[in-house]
Amino acid sequence: MLSQIQELQNSAIKEISACTQADQILEIEKKYLGKTGQLAQILKNIKNLDNEAKKTIGQNANLAKNEITQALYARKQELENLELQERLASEKIDVTLPSKDLSVGTINPLTKMIAQAEKIFLSLGFAIEDGPHIEAELYNFDSLNFKKHHPARDIQDTFFIDKPEHEDYGKLVLRTHTSPVQVRAMLKHGAPIKIINPGRVYRNEDQDATHEHTFYQIEGLMIDKNAGIGHLRGVLEEFLSQLFEKQITTRFRPGYFPFTEPSLELDMSCVFCDQKGCKVCKHTGFIELLGCGMVHPNVLRSSNVDPEEYQGFAFGMGLDRILMLKYGFQSVCDIRANDQRLLKQL
Ligand code: PHE
Repeated sequence: MLSQIQELQNSAIKEISACTQADQILEIEKKYLGKTGQLAQILKNIKNLDNEAKKTIGQNANLAKNEITQALYARKQELENLELQERLASEKIDVTLPSKDLSVGTINPLTKMIAQAEKIFLSLGFAIEDGPHIEAELYNFDSLNFKKHHPARDIQDTFFIDKPEHEDYGKLVLRTHTSPVQVRAMLKHGAPIKIINPGRVYRNEDQDATHEHTFYQIEGLMIDKNAGIGHLRGVLEEFLSQLFEKQITTRFRPGYFPFTEPSLELDMSCVFCDQKGCKVCKHTGFIELLGCGMVHPNVLRSSNVDPEEYQGFAFGMGLDRILMLKYGFQSVCDIRANDQRLLKQL
């Protein structure tokens, strides 16, 4: 029996050291030391032995049990450590590896152009003014000399806010142009004044290649003792030349706005053909650009500025139009379509 115990111990130790996975240890333990395991089988017959033999066999069996238990425990620890090391090695993160291609956003061309325009006008001595997008009819129309039944006030053209009419300010509208800022700025700062207001405007318009219900304008206003059309032309030619990075000339045509007198349309020399004639300028050498004129005396009066003492000019240009000319977009929708392929090229 003693040699049986010894053999059992040897084969257990051999199996334990050959074992390669921590969860196999439990099986080996069961096989040798479990209630129905091999050691228990051997000790089953111990009751038939004399006391002396019982004692030695018992002692040896205990020793073997201890040896096997210790070997099991040690190997289990070893295997667990190995597994941990393997796991750590496989999960290792190299923080110095270059990252995957992270796409970095760009500034929208409209935002960029507003910033460029602001910089140029600031350099020409203009301040930047802001105004509300939800505007009172008073500022959007009345103070700008729109008569009560002017077609621009029609709901076909203008988004009216669904609120009762205010007895002084009239209805609320999404501003249809940036011109109300002229009045607000003069009421706030008085004259003389030189401001621009870049911002969004809204019209009740069906969308096509050149129209959108929401678009951007830059309003300009200069009021002084003798600010005139020559100054208007000088300011705009300088602005356009800086923006398009080439010498731009302009021409006036007669126009009509209730808030300017005289009212003018300004065309700029074609940036695509340098006035040689092309498809864009329809072989005229000029491109229609913006509306402008001398501020109407009624507008000055509504703004608490004395038309006997002060005069000046205003202009309002569509930013989308300028952007289309600068980058050669075919449609205003392209600019706000959020198409990464387009935006990344700018
Ligand atoms: N507000 C006019 C428009 O939206 C443009 C304009 C501004 C014309 C200032 C003259 C003076 O069309």
